[in-house]
Amino acid sequence: MINVDKKSAIKIFKRELNFIRDSLKNSENPFHFFYFTTINNKKPENRTVVLRDLKLDPLRLFFNTDFRSNKVNELKKNQLCSALFYDNKRRIQLRLNCESNIHKNNKLTKTIWDKTPLQSRKCYMAPYAPGVHLKQWEPNLPKKYIDCDPEKKDSELGYKNFSVIELLIKSFEIIELHYNGHIRFKLENDFKEVEFLSS
Ligand SMILES: Cc1cc2nc3c(=O)[nH]c(=O)nc-3n(C[C@H](O)[C@H](O)[C@H](O)COP(=O)(O)O)c2cc1C
Repeated sequence: MINVDKKSAIKIFKRELNFIRDSLKNSENPFHFFYFTTINNKKPENRTVVLRDLKLDPLRLFFNTDFRSNKVNELKKNQLCSALFYDNKRRIQLRLNCESNIHKNNKLTKTIWDKTPLQSRKCYMAPYAPGVHLKQWEPNLPKKYIDCDPEKKDSELGYKNFSVIELLIKSFEIIELHYNGHIRFKLENDFKEVEFLSS
């Protein structure tokens, strides 16, 4: 029989933060990607993104995106959003409610941009904003660089479209699946309070 008290729930939470940390440099870790949901005029929209950073006190997650994208426009109107992670091997889901902060052309974006490889910078040099309707398919990359990396100097053109989304985690729900009773709980208020939930 499983027995989980508030102290062991906090241990599970800390263990999951360590898994998230590992995923930053390990693309085999399923938390390397997550599903990010925004609200578009009362309609939910979700998509996959790559987790780029985790910071504590307060707990925050970061990912990179094109400033012209729909998700950025949605966050400008409503900063409330959510992040969903699932590890199929360990059968663990993390469901986070967040508030977003859009970083554009500041110290943080400059630091991250400087470390962004040329191959990734190319995506931000796309002639069309992401999500523009096309009469027919085209790769939406600079013609000159379709099959190769951009030259360093040219790649700087992408910076004007580069942004970093910071997610301030307001609540953190964990569900760990077990045949003899799933463990489900939520942490709020600085993640010191554990609330068990039926599953
Ligand atoms: C595996 C995978 C990783 C992705 N990572 C990102 C990412 O880190 N940032 C991003 O903006 N889009 C990423 N995308 C593309 C998004 O899922 C989405 O299609 C795109 O950002 C447009 O979303 P939007 O129109 O809702 O803004 C990724 C897609 C896949 C399949």
